[in-house]
Order: sequence, then structure tokens, then C-alpha cells
Amino acid sequence: MNIFLLFIIILLVVETILAHRGFSYENLGSFCKNNTPHGNPNLLPIETGLPRLIRNIENGSLYQIGIDDDQTWLIHVWGMNGYDYGFAYGTLLNEQINKFIPKTYAYFEKEVMEKLEHLQVPDWFKKIIANKGLAFALDLQNTLVEPYMDKEIYNELQGISDGAKIDYKLLLRIHMFGELTRAHCFYFGAWGKATLGGKTLQLRAFDWDMSADLQAYPVITIYHPRSSKLGHTFTNIAWAGYIGVLSGMSSTLLGMTSIGVEFPDDTFGDESMSGEPFIFVSRHILQYSQTVDDALAYISDVRRTCHLIMGIADGKLNTARMIQYSHSKVNFFDDLNLQPAAEWHPQITNVVYNGMDWLCPSYQYKLYQQIMEQYGHITPESTIQNISAVVKTGDVHVAVYDLSENILYLANGAASNKQGPKQAYQRQFNKLDLKIEYDRKQPSIDVVED
Ligand SMILES: *[C@@H]1O[C@H](CO)[C@@H](O)[C@H](O)[C@H]1NC(C)=O
Ligand SMILES: *[C@@H]1O[C@H](CO)[C@@H](O)[C@H](O)[C@H]1NC(C)=O
Repeated sequence: MNIFLLFIIILLVVETILAHRGFSYENLGSFCKNNTPHGNPNLLPIETGLPRLIRNIENGSLYQIGIDDDQTWLIHVWGMNGYDYGFAYGTLLNEQINKFIPKTYAYFEKEVMEKLEHLQVPDWFKKIIANKGLAFALDLQNTLVEPYMDKEIYNELQGISDGAKIDYKLLLRIHMFGELTRAHCFYFGAWGKATLGGKTLQLRAFDWDMSADLQAYPVITIYHPRSSKLGHTFTNIAWAGYIGVLSGMSSTLLGMTSIGVEFPDDTFGDESMSGEPFIFVSRHILQYSQTVDDALAYISDVRRTCHLIMGIADGKLNTARMIQYSHSKVNFFDDLNLQPAAEWHPQITNVVYNGMDWLCPSYQYKLYQQIMEQYGHITPESTIQNISAVVKTGDVHVAVYDLSENILYLANGAASNKQGPKQAYQRQFNKLDLKIEYDRKQPSIDVVED
């Protein structure tokens, strides 16, 4: 009798496990199902040369970092308002913006039209795109989000438009895409026992469609406010003309990551087309939050839009969080309650991490293994050499934030006309000491443009 009961219980348990696995695996795309990532370590030396000044204007300075095929623009802007920021940015990067934005818009438009069915937006919105065109739909989207936007963002876009002489509407539409297209990315935040010397480190590996060639125009922007209404100094890591935040760091020692979710489970809430777009939620955090707690409070209260995983690390409080993000629900995780709880995503003391997507067993587990291999002595160098390159994550860019020292390590993918490996995780990283960058002074007004 007892044995029979035990037998039934075992059957039920096995069935539950199988059903659960069946659910997780069968619903996943081929990307998450079969791939067992294993790449070679990245053995290239990190480039540490100082930024080279290209030119100064009244409210901005343009530099370049890196050598040969791995150069990145570094731009400083100063302002009393968003318009000052934008005008300096648009003036200095005029040429890059005019090459990048129209080409990128055309690429996205083609992609969206071809893959309309698979777009993660409501059917009514797909109908609008199909019937009225993408530009109309993106303008409508802007109308839906406008009440929740920081008005200085619009001023900044207007400044860029005037400085670079590029169509304002086109710039605005590019900034509405973030909600339609989802990037697959990797994140970890590690501190305390996990890292060498107990530093707070963050990996932000951005995987996306490399044929969009975003990586041809990489730009690091340092914003220097001259009025407290613009918050504090912060860094955005993006591309010419893009002012939303996908990756970045703040002078208050916060680091930001966001990861698109294609395979949520029922613990996620629903999505909405109206609210503050997540690229501007992330920017708000870098621009205004003092600590990770401020950031979480902002995320709790703001009107959120889509499914997402966010990662925020804090070099002052020496900790990091992972955020399960959606319109109706939000959950904050640390190392003790990290989700999803699964045998392929074990918890690690003093680490939060997420590989590729919410339900993505092979990549999640591979990231777990590489973190564990370096555990206790994780450094920016070991992350670059042995984690992102081996897990093969970060094709468009890989950023490693040392939030204890305020140093950024960044590699960009190779543009279509460049030599060598394509993916950022196999390219040369540049080291940028943000302490020096944040201290830079606005060029004196007499230094007029050349
Ligand atoms: C530079 O910024 C100041 C405010 O800080 C502003 O008054 C001035 O118009 C700006 N100059 C240009 C050329 O944008
Ligand atoms: C990467 O891993 C190898 C092998 O485990 C190790 O010898 C090397 O020191 C690691 N690299 C860094 C920068 O820690």
C-alpha cells in the first residue's frame, strides 16, 4: 500500500518535471533551444590610449578613442537645457548623424514591414502599420507616450535636428523603435565575494541584428548639466543621433542594462503602448538617480510599457539588481531570490545574471558556468577574456562597467567594411576612465570651431 502510494507520487513528480520541461523547451525559438555556445577567449590587449581631441565648439567637444578599425567617437556636451545638449551634439556629429539615421530608419522600416506578423505589438497597432505605414504608426506611438516623456528629451532632439540639419520627425521616429524591436542580451552584476577585491562590476552585452550596421557609428556621450534640472553628469553608450539609453553609466556610479524578452512566462504582466518608453526610463535613472534604491523607486512608480529585463548595479552601495519589467507588474531580484528559478539558472552569491532571454536554458546555463569559473576573482579583464567571448554574447557591443573605479571598457562590432572578426566580443576593447571625462571643462567660449 505504502509502496504503491510512493510509486504514484514519484510518477506525479516525474510527470510534473517533464511537463515543465516540455513547456519551457517547446515554446522556445531555435536560438534558445539547441545552441550550446562555446567561443574562444578574447586575448587581444585592452587599448588604454587617452582620447584624442578632434574639435571643440561652444558647448561641446568631440574626441576619438581606440585604434585602427576599433575607433569610437567620444562626445562631451554641456547645457542649461536639452536644446543646448542637442545643438552641440548635432553640430559636432553632423556628418555621422546624416549618414547613420536615414540609413538605419530605412533598414528598420524594411525589417518591420517584412516581419510585421511577428512584431510584439497589439494587432490593432499592426493594422495601423500595414494600412497607414510605419511613419504614421510611429508618430501615433509618440502621441501615446508624449504625456509621460521628459520635455527636455524633445528639446534635445530639436537641438540635434537644428545642429545636424536633419529632419526632426525622422529622429523622433528612430527613438520610438525601441518598443517594437527586441534585442537579446546578456547581463551580470557582480560584487563582494564574486569579484577580485570586492569590486562592483557589470557586464552589458548587446546582441542584435548586425546587418543593421549600428556598429558603424558608435558614440559615447558624456552629458555635463549646467542646470540642476538636467540632473547630474552621465554617460550614454549608443550610436550617432541616438539619445535613448540601452547601455550607460552615471557619475553616481550606477550602471544600466536592458534586455528584450521574447519568451516570457506567466509571471510577467501585460504590456502597454502608452507610458514612458524604456529607453527613457533607463536614461532617467542614469541622469537623476543617486542610488539603486532611487532607481527602483522610479521604476515602481513610472508608467511602464513592455516586457523587459533590466539590470542595474550600484558602485556606491556595492550591489546589483535584476528587474522583471512589464506594464502591469514589476519584480526586483537580488542574488538571494533571483528568477527564473530553474536548474539551468542557479542562484550565485553576490551575482545577479541573465543570459539572452527569460526562458533560455542553454545560454543562461553557459553564462552561469563562465561566471562560476571566474568566481571570486572576476575582473573587467577576466570578463572580457573569459566570459563574453566564451559565452559568445555582445555582437553589436560589449560594455563592462567597473563601478568601483568608474571605468568603462567597451568594444563595438566591426562595421560591414572592416577587417577581422565581426562580433564585438572578439574585438579590441577600449578602456575609458570616466573620472577624467567627468572632470573635463567646457571649452572656453573663445575657442571657436575650426
Ligand atoms: C551654449 O550654452 C549656453 C547655455 O549654457 C547657451 O546660452 C548658448 O546659446 C549655447 N550656445 C550654442 C551655440 O548653442
Ligand atoms: C582566463 O581563464 C584562463 C584559464 O582559466 C586563466 O588562465 C586566465 O588568467 C583568465 N584570464 C583572466 C584575465 O583572468
